[in-house]
Amino acid sequence: MATEKTFYLETFGCQMNAHDSEKVIGTLRRQGYRQVESEEEASLILYNTCSIRDKAEHKVFNRLNDHKKLYKTGTRFGVLGCVAQQEGENIFARAPYVSLVSGSASYRKLPGMLARLEAGETHITGLDDCQTSETFESGDTARQNPYRAYITIIEGCDNFCAYCVVPYTRGRERSRASSSVLAEARQIADQGYTEIQLLGQNVNSYRDPERKRGFAELLTAVGEVPGIHRVRFMTSHPRDFTREIVAAIDAVPSLCDHVHLPVQSGSSRILQRMNREYSRDDYLEKISWIKAARRHISISTDIIVGFPGETAEDFMQTLDLLSAVEYDCVFGFKYSGRPNTPALTMIDSIPEAEKIERLQVLLDKQREIQRVNYAKHLGQVIEVMVEGFNAAREQVIGRSSQNIPVNFTCAQLIAPAPGSYQLVKITATHPNSLVGEAV
Ligand code: 5AD
Ligand code: SF4
Repeated sequence: MATEKTFYLETFGCQMNAHDSEKVIGTLRRQGYRQVESEEEASLILYNTCSIRDKAEHKVFNRLNDHKKLYKTGTRFGVLGCVAQQEGENIFARAPYVSLVSGSASYRKLPGMLARLEAGETHITGLDDCQTSETFESGDTARQNPYRAYITIIEGCDNFCAYCVVPYTRGRERSRASSSVLAEARQIADQGYTEIQLLGQNVNSYRDPERKRGFAELLTAVGEVPGIHRVRFMTSHPRDFTREIVAAIDAVPSLCDHVHLPVQSGSSRILQRMNREYSRDDYLEKISWIKAARRHISISTDIIVGFPGETAEDFMQTLDLLSAVEYDCVFGFKYSGRPNTPALTMIDSIPEAEKIERLQVLLDKQREIQRVNYAKHLGQVIEVMVEGFNAAREQVIGRSSQNIPVNFTCAQLIAPAPGSYQLVKITATHPNSLVGEAV
């Protein structure tokens, strides 16, 4: 291995993974590693992987294959995250040049694993901690996002939705102490961040191990940290979504006007097969709480089409639910059978062409709902947090409290800095964004 310790890290998957990578980077730096921008410059190449769908899993093996020739020059490879936990030691067989395989529940032990790697070991695993009750608090998180600070409040998942690989890759559900969460929120505010995103596979089942606070209380406390102007959270399981969360959003100005509430299907029959533990009516009742709020809270969702046994009638009910809720954003996915999951034993009866067709119908319908929703913002003046600048279009890129992307022009010669706020008058709409000018 080269004398200078350098690493290249690429992240796939969700925000939990992005934030795990921030902690991993902090840990590596503390161990004397310097981050580099390309695989070729690195003495250690790490991929933090996702296995939520088949396609995501393939990416990592393609990436490894593309760079395996670097092994001969002394470069070492590590696979982290969900594919690592799911495939375990099989990865050494599939890609023999990989030396380190670790799931997220074992990142606390990374310093020891890195020391073994430096000593020349070639089959190092961190796979045994899926039952752990400990959370990963590195103390030296290397935040990569200049305007949004992620804070983990709960790790793992105990829900066992029939399609989902996460309980097998991220381990048991465990909440972090609220004192630790709030200390991190205050530290973030001191660093100049004004937006926090609380993270967990199911933030709604947060239970403070110290003071028995629930999620709504924690959300309120984070929202009251001086200097914090926006608080978001991701992701919510509808079964555990409470009225108290809506009341907190109404009461605390810094809590954003947005709830992401993945429904997965509009058919109670399919929801039951998915083991979601709520019905269509239960879900719609929770939506009615959100709609009854004093603030206009934007709602987004995730939907899976083509789950085993989904009939045309079940799918119609999903389409009908879109109209009933009037989402501002929908992430639609074709069902993909995942290893270890109960749905894998069900007959995947829907042909790929039918899944593609249903997804298209779903997205077309949502496009129309969004067009109508977004048009209601024409003429409004909205507070936008700046995220970047699109030089080609000479537009500032930002986001509203409702989580809608807003691109705007501004008369100033120097574009406003990421993380700053700007009032913007909305003048036009695009399918997935609003357009305006700074006022
Ligand atoms: N197939 C397709 N989509 C899936 N999701 C989770 N597991 C699967 C799967 N096996 C979707 C869900 C979830 C989102 C993050 O990914 O909609 O909310
Ligand atoms: Fe992918 Fe799920 Fe793992 Fe996130 S938790 S990286 S979405 S498999």
